[in-house]
Amino acid sequence: MKFVVLTDTHFVARSRRIYGLDPAERLAAAIACINRDHPDLAFVIITGDLAHWGEDTAYEHLADVLARLNAPPILMMGNHDRRDVFGRHFPGVIRDTDGFVQSTQVFDAATIITLDTLNEAAPNHEGLLCEHRLAYLEQALMSAPADRPLLLFQHHPPFDTGLRYMDTIRLANPDAELDVIARTRRPDYLFTGHLHRPIAGSWNGIPFHIQRALAHQVGFDLETEGHIPGSHEAPDYSHVTVSGGQIVIHQCSFTYAGPRFSLHDQAALNGAVG
Ligand SMILES: [Fe+2]
Repeated sequence: MKFVVLTDTHFVARSRRIYGLDPAERLAAAIACINRDHPDLAFVIITGDLAHWGEDTAYEHLADVLARLNAPPILMMGNHDRRDVFGRHFPGVIRDTDGFVQSTQVFDAATIITLDTLNEAAPNHEGLLCEHRLAYLEQALMSAPADRPLLLFQHHPPFDTGLRYMDTIRLANPDAELDVIARTRRPDYLFTGHLHRPIAGSWNGIPFHIQRALAHQVGFDLETEGHIPGSHEAPDYSHVTVSGGQIVIHQCSFTYAGPRFSLHDQAALNGAVG
């Protein structure tokens, strides 16, 4: 099974920009690459912060651009999203019985669980898994087929990464999530967004991948406190292959427009590139 991970599209109303960027232009460029280069995807997942201010016009615009995508999308909530506004424009998206945008989808190669960590009552954008959502996770982990990998997706990471401001707005209750995992089943991989930087590692033995944002980025800065240092580093999406229990993740710089050459080409070796 192959799929693509995108995150933090931060859509705004048509013709608006954010931090000098047009998120729609970015997503359209990513979709053009994905449609052209990866015709065999099971899905494309966007792990939250679909819209920046969560207004109707932003989701309407997102729906228009996403309509160009050939693969089926899986959409998730981030701290900038507004669940009810989102629902008006994406009425077909799976919700759990409590109305949270969470789903469990069993594919031949893997089970995909998506969690909704949006806490609209939080004044600071931190995430939350309330009792309802923890119960959903528990049931999903217990009922997932044991014979294939289990991939868990959530917007907010449940751990610190050293990005000091971002650490203050991660998932607020990681111990509660860990308790559920400890008494049910450990996911084989955890994917998150939120940090707007590419970060990998492991959390309590669970390997994780934090996807770089599609829109504005967060700088690699482990010192700054009190605000989030932004940057315009190039975005990417990740192409994931799950096969025979093996998980391989490639990051694809879809805005790269520089030279491409063979490393075996003597002329290129001597500088004749581009
Ligand atoms: Fe974001």
